[in-house]
Amino acid sequence: MTTAPDGGRVAELARQSHRVITALQHPGGAYPASPTFSAYRGYAWLRDGAFTAEGISRYGDVTSASRFHDWVAGVLADRAEVVATLCRDAADGREIPLDRMLPTRFTFDGGAGSDPWWDFQTDGYGTWLWSLVEHAGRHGLDLERWRAGIEVAVDYLTTFWSRPCYDWWEEHVEERHVSTLGAIHAGLTAVARVPLLDESRRAAAGRAADQVRERVLAEGTTTGRASDHGAPHLAKWFGSAQVDASLAACVVPFGLVERGSALATATLDAIAVDLEVDGGVHRFRADVFYGGGQWLLLACLLGWNRAAAGDREGALRNLLWVADQADPDGHLPEQVPGHLLHPEARAEWVDRWGEVASPLLWSHGMFLILADELGLLPEGPLR
Ligand code: BGC
Repeated sequence: MTTAPDGGRVAELARQSHRVITALQHPGGAYPASPTFSAYRGYAWLRDGAFTAEGISRYGDVTSASRFHDWVAGVLADRAEVVATLCRDAADGREIPLDRMLPTRFTFDGGAGSDPWWDFQTDGYGTWLWSLVEHAGRHGLDLERWRAGIEVAVDYLTTFWSRPCYDWWEEHVEERHVSTLGAIHAGLTAVARVPLLDESRRAAAGRAADQVRERVLAEGTTTGRASDHGAPHLAKWFGSAQVDASLAACVVPFGLVERGSALATATLDAIAVDLEVDGGVHRFRADVFYGGGQWLLLACLLGWNRAAAGDREGALRNLLWVADQADPDGHLPEQVPGHLLHPEARAEWVDRWGEVASPLLWSHGMFLILADELGLLPEGPLR
């Protein structure tokens, strides 16, 4: 059992994480998901980038995080007309096909790219708003600089939050995913609390955030459903009895359910029981992607929740497990195959897309967040 951190190793991996992320940041501000992995090369995701920016902001690199937010705000501002039309069509009761919705990932110049993808996911827009408000608050920055992009994200989310879409893992477009709704709730709550938006947008954001929460509490838990766990917990999607490790974000950092509440505790317990092995965390039980290995960023997310709840030892276990997965270059992959849920499924993914993505910038960003949460970032300006 871990009682004391290996401080030097954690600090060095934090420095290396900052180096990896900033060296790969595109001159235009985008954080690529992973530089070489065949299926991700050339693209930046809002979800990955928003969490990565949170890690970089906590590390103290205000410039790099702000450049990422500049990039996103520009990408969205360029789509202001598109979103205004979408919102008008929705208000008129028109059916809007998925291919008219905003993309999940963008090329570094802000385009949608030409490769087919599971391209309708709303969580990234919420996570971006949340990450940006955190960054501005932490460093005393004026959100006015990002207003145009923020307004587009708010209009998009307040109009389309209830529409089913692909989840964090780009699956099950037909479902309403609770982690997606958690991200939207966090983003809209964050922008509704700061003095930036005009009154009608601010009210719409607050109203939608309340509705998201009510909907999740009514339909997104296992209350009354036969789950493997005793107490009701958040569900992977409306009607499911399963958990997904991404649900931890609905507690910390998204605050969709109150930290320490029975629902929060039961959700985190269910994730730990179903999905955690030796400090590494699987996405969900049925995961076959690369055999369903353990994800570094999810180990950090669970550790972040533990640190916030005062369980330092549990959080450290997650952090050190992640540190143990670094390769000799100090690169953190997306997932590792030490414990696979479906080993028979791994080879087909290696054949299709090559070895697992590494470095994954989101893994490095989450490592910075958890190291910061535990007070283990190195000292000093830019560390
Ligand atoms: C994951 C997504 C992630 C993307 C880029 C996908 O395999 O399911 O969550 O955003 O990779 O890292």
